Amino acid sequence: LSLQETKPLNTETRPKPEPQFVKNLFGDISKTYDKANDWITFGMARQWRKALVEWSDGNPKAQILDCATGTGDLAIDFKNTLPDSNVIGSDFCEGMLEYAPLKAKNKNLEIKFEVADVTQLPYANETFDIVSIAYGIRNVLDRKKAFSEMARVLKPGGRMMILETGEVNNPLLKSMIQIYFKNVVPKIGGWISGRRDAYEYLQKSSGLFPSGTQFIEELENTGLFNKIQFRSLMGGASYIYKAIK
Ligand SMILES: C[S@@+](CC[C@H](N)C(=O)[O-])C[C@H]1O[C@@H](n2cnc3c(N)ncnc32)[C@H](O)[C@@H]1O
Repeated sequence: LSLQETKPLNTETRPKPEPQFVKNLFGDISKTYDKANDWITFGMARQWRKALVEWSDGNPKAQILDCATGTGDLAIDFKNTLPDSNVIGSDFCEGMLEYAPLKAKNKNLEIKFEVADVTQLPYANETFDIVSIAYGIRNVLDRKKAFSEMARVLKPGGRMMILETGEVNNPLLKSMIQIYFKNVVPKIGGWISGRRDAYEYLQKSSGLFPSGTQFIEELENTGLFNKIQFRSLMGGASYIYKAIK
């Protein structure tokens, strides 16, 4: 396939993630979110959250905030890896958060889960060593505000860790993934959750989202971080960003 042949799949515009719409959407699919996620990503999202935790180099007693934690998987991975750390998982969708405490309890992990909007965090300045967000930032309308809030609550030298979908470089892999996300993902998501439209939206929201150097540039332009790095996963299907305050 030539690059030109793959182009038409890329011409869709990204829908604007209006906060109330996003909150309702995740509330509607919360019950089956984990199952659908495992099916859609073949369990790879689980590995990639673990890779984020590993790269964050958290000290054993780190203060950690996972924003847009959803059903809590990244917060759980942090606490599992760093048992003496203090972990808070927050999300603005109560429906998603509902499932997190039981998941942590079943693993004997003490994690606080709280309702909070990443663009308006209810925490004091310079509280955390690590602030993370996995597959959340592309659903936030005002990203600049989210970055400034995450930076505000980070201690100097603290790390903001982001995991997000991205653009695959290899043209063949890229068109295969695009076809999969456009044609298969809404079917799987719809079949598991009964809300095919929600998975159509999620598929569209990944398309054209800035990734790699483009996303780094956006972070650099905030002027909030000293050092910003990224790692790509599966040729760019997802990216991990590490920004040091
Ligand atoms: C795709 S889910 C990701 C959940 C989880 N982090 C994971 O890795 O599976 C996106 C989450 O972002 C949350 N979210 C979106 N905008 C938010 C905001 N402004 N503040 C807090 N959470 C937000 C949604 O409620 C949803 O739970």
